[in-house]
Amino acid sequence: MKVLVVGSGGRCHAIVEALSKSPQVEKIFCAPGNAGIAALAECVAIKETAVEELKEFALANNIELTVAGPEVALEAGIADTFKANGLRLFGPTKSAARIECSKQFAKDLMQKYEVPTAAYATFEDFDAAMEYVKAGSLPTVLKYDGLAAGKGVVIAETLEQAEEALRDMLLDEKFGKGKVVIEEYLEGPEFSLLCFVNGKDVYPMPVAQDHKRAYDGDKGPNTGGMGAYTELPFITAEDLDYAMEKIMRPTASAMVEEGCPFCGVLYGGLMKTKNGIKVIEFNARFGDPETEVILPRMTSDICQVFCDVADGKQPTITWNEMATLGIVLASKGYPGSYEKGYAIEGTEEVDGSIYHMGTALKDGKYVTSGGRVMIVVCQAPTLREAQQKAATEVAKIKCDNLFHRTDIGDKAFKY
Ligand code: AMP
Ligand code: GLY
Repeated sequence: MKVLVVGSGGRCHAIVEALSKSPQVEKIFCAPGNAGIAALAECVAIKETAVEELKEFALANNIELTVAGPEVALEAGIADTFKANGLRLFGPTKSAARIECSKQFAKDLMQKYEVPTAAYATFEDFDAAMEYVKAGSLPTVLKYDGLAAGKGVVIAETLEQAEEALRDMLLDEKFGKGKVVIEEYLEGPEFSLLCFVNGKDVYPMPVAQDHKRAYDGDKGPNTGGMGAYTELPFITAEDLDYAMEKIMRPTASAMVEEGCPFCGVLYGGLMKTKNGIKVIEFNARFGDPETEVILPRMTSDICQVFCDVADGKQPTITWNEMATLGIVLASKGYPGSYEKGYAIEGTEEVDGSIYHMGTALKDGKYVTSGGRVMIVVCQAPTLREAQQKAATEVAKIKCDNLFHRTDIGDKAFKY
């Protein structure tokens, strides 16, 4: 089978690697891919949002399965276009992807179907939003309604911070014209529950935890994710059962009821609060960097899983029991401004998986070319061992302009 994977980061590299292990897969194309992915797939210079071009490529190359990675491709309607042309695509339609692309859509759906989430209200008008914030308690959470590349959420500790964020979003239209969802502030450990979903059928993956802040101790600015691990000792079997029965399954059914059945990966960003597990956000795709620690645990044929879910058949999905932990190497300065082009040495010494996020090839050697550059992933029977192994392996990578967190996974033992 010839397959096409749309995307370019570490998540995409992990998907490509998993597909490369499938005996059914004869050739993998990746659009646009990156320098690391190029070792496993033929990278094609088509942007992930260029839906028409991607469709033409898939038709011309007899692609039997396309996996849509990033949300921008889903919002651009890649699933709708591919399906209209008789092409098999793993990923939700534009209408179903609203669960990620519109915070208001997601919140209204959860309210209507009684899926537990933070209390909220939606505003278009700056003055009305400020009145609501003044009448409520602090901190408060302000979320831009549309896609904002992970930068659309502000947790305001003071009225001044709330005013500044609302000004940015509603008056200055920093992310474009759009509404703001104002949410109750919740507390507790966060975790990610990703599920393969086809209509009302929901198949969970192992739970994982992302580390969004740039520095140790969850200090510093939010990032695209500095590391992740799975399993989570603080999530019990009862917690998982609750999350499946009260959140993931009802949400999938709600999407069917609303006339926009979901097909693909439904990502629940969940929080275990004192008052039960609640939804912080939904994504309509694999998470990054969660995917880089989850997929190495899959022991079934991922190509068959993608095809079965896309075709509405029941997939067979199996996992190993290994604790898996990944540490991201990022350019110094990230998530602010950073320099590119630094040589990366030592990758071939690493005993583990390396997924490239932002690298380029220069004179046959890898150099840095993005904010997050690569993630080193190790497996072991226990989380402590996986953590130690990842720390040892990440130290083998030599580069003058990279930093990483040293506490990925520590939270697992603190809750
Ligand atoms: P989101 O993009 O919606 O996942 O939000 C980004 C991050 O903001 C989350 O991972 C949480 O850490 C935090 N956050 C979002 N909503 C809330 C909330 N209602 N209460 C507390 N923290 C939140
Ligand atoms: N790990 C967060 C995300 O993929 O959105």
